[in-house]
Amino acid sequence: MTLFIEETAGGLRIDGLDADALAAEFGTPLYVYSAGLIRANFVRLASAFAPLSPLLCYALKACGNLHICRLLAAMDAGMDVVSGGELERAWLSGVPMSRVVFAGVGKTEAEIRAALDGRFSPFANPVPGAPDPRGRGPVGLFNIESEGEFLRIASIAEQLGIVASACLRINPDVDARTHKYTTTGKHENKFGIEIGRAAEFFASHGRTPHLRLTGLHIHLGSPIATPAPYLEAVRIALSLIDRLADAGTPISVLNIGGGYGIDYGGGGVCTPEEFGAALVPELAPRVAAGLRIIMEPGRIIVGNAGVLLTRVQYVKTGKSKRFIIGDAGMHTLLRPALYGAHHRVGPTRVAPNTAESPADVVGPVCESSDFLCQDRPMPPVSPGDLLAVFDAGAYGMSMASTYNDHPKPAEVLADAGRAALIRPRGDIAGLIAPELACDP
Ligand SMILES: Cc1ncc(COP(=O)(O)O)c(C=O)c1O
Repeated sequence: MTLFIEETAGGLRIDGLDADALAAEFGTPLYVYSAGLIRANFVRLASAFAPLSPLLCYALKACGNLHICRLLAAMDAGMDVVSGGELERAWLSGVPMSRVVFAGVGKTEAEIRAALDGRFSPFANPVPGAPDPRGRGPVGLFNIESEGEFLRIASIAEQLGIVASACLRINPDVDARTHKYTTTGKHENKFGIEIGRAAEFFASHGRTPHLRLTGLHIHLGSPIATPAPYLEAVRIALSLIDRLADAGTPISVLNIGGGYGIDYGGGGVCTPEEFGAALVPELAPRVAAGLRIIMEPGRIIVGNAGVLLTRVQYVKTGKSKRFIIGDAGMHTLLRPALYGAHHRVGPTRVAPNTAESPADVVGPVCESSDFLCQDRPMPPVSPGDLLAVFDAGAYGMSMASTYNDHPKPAEVLADAGRAALIRPRGDIAGLIAPELACDP
C-alpha cells in the first residue's frame, strides 16, 4: 500500500515531499495536503459502497479549498454545501449543480436565490477569472430543515418559475455516540424535523408544485466510530419510507449523510470497508427497487490527508509543565480547543531512541484553551524545530480564524513529488485594509 504520509528516518514526507523543505519554502504555519491520499480515500469509500452506486457528495465544510474541491470534482464527486459561500465554491470547482445538495438550518433568502438561479450568484456581476454563473440551474436537492424554510424555498422557486427538489431532513433521535457539540441526530439538537412529524409534513407539503419533496435526509453527527448508529437511523428512515409509500407519497432518494470517523491515533474506528459491509446489505434491496442513495462524507476523504506544520518559537518550563510554543494554535486548528479533540503531534525529524517527557504544545493566542495537545510525551525540542500535527485535513483550515489578528496559514497541495500553493498565506495589511477603507 502506498504511504502518502510517511515518517521516515530522514524526516516526515508528504506525497513524496520533505516536510521541512516545504516549511522552508512556504513558511509556517502551513497546511499540506496529500493529493494522492485524498484520491485514494475517495476511491476506497466509493468501492466500499459501490453496490449502492451512491452519489458521493463531498461535504466541503471539511476542507473547502477550491483546488481540493476541483480534485474531487474531477473524480465525479458531488458536493454537499451549507452556505452561499460553499455553494459558489462547489460551482467554481466544476461540479454540475444537479450534483450539489444544499443543507444547513439557516438558509437565507439570498442563499436560496443563488441556489435556484445563477443570476443571483455573487459572481453574476462578472468576476475576473470566474465563469459566468447565469443559466447554471438549481441545486440537485435542498435538504429541508424546517417548515419555515420549506415554505420560503417553495415561494421563491414559484416567483422565479423554477421547479426544485428537496429531501426532508428527519431527526431520528439516534445517538451518534460522539462529542455533544457534533451530535446532530438527537431530539434536543436543532437539526431536521422530528421523526414523529415527518408523515404529517409530507401530507401537508408533499405535493407542492415548485418544490418537489422526493427524499429523506439523515445526518447523525461526526465523527462516528461504528456503523451501529447509521444502521439504527437507516432502519427508522426505511420504515418511514414504507409508511409514506402506503400513504401515496413515494420516496425516491435517501441521503444517509456523512460523519464517518477516522482514526486520530486512539484506534477503535471502523474502516470504510466495515461501514460499507454493515450498510450495503441493509440498503441494497431498496436500491434494486429504485431508491437512490446519497452520502455526504467529508472527514473520511480529507482528514488524514492533511498535516499542519508549525515552527517552535519558544520552549518554557512552568512549575509543573513544559510548554512548547509554536506559531500555530487554536486560530489555526480549533478542534482541540473546541472539542478536546486528539491529534498526533510530533517533530518532523526525531533522533532515534530519544527520551520523551510530557509537554503541552500551545500557540500564541491569548486564551488558555489555545493548545494543540496537552500532557503529551514529547522528545526535547528547541526553538526553530518543526512540528507536524497529523490528521488535520478536515475541519482544520476550514475552521481557522484570524483571532488576535494572526493572518490565516498558507495551504499547499503535494502531488506525487510536486508541491503547488493552493492558498497564499494571509497578511496583516490585508487583514486591516477593509477597515482602513471605511471612512465613518
Ligand atoms: C449535514 C452534514 N453532512 C455531512 C457532514 C460531514 O461530516 P463528516 O465530515 O464527518 O463526514 C456534516 C458535518 O458536520 C453535516 O453537518
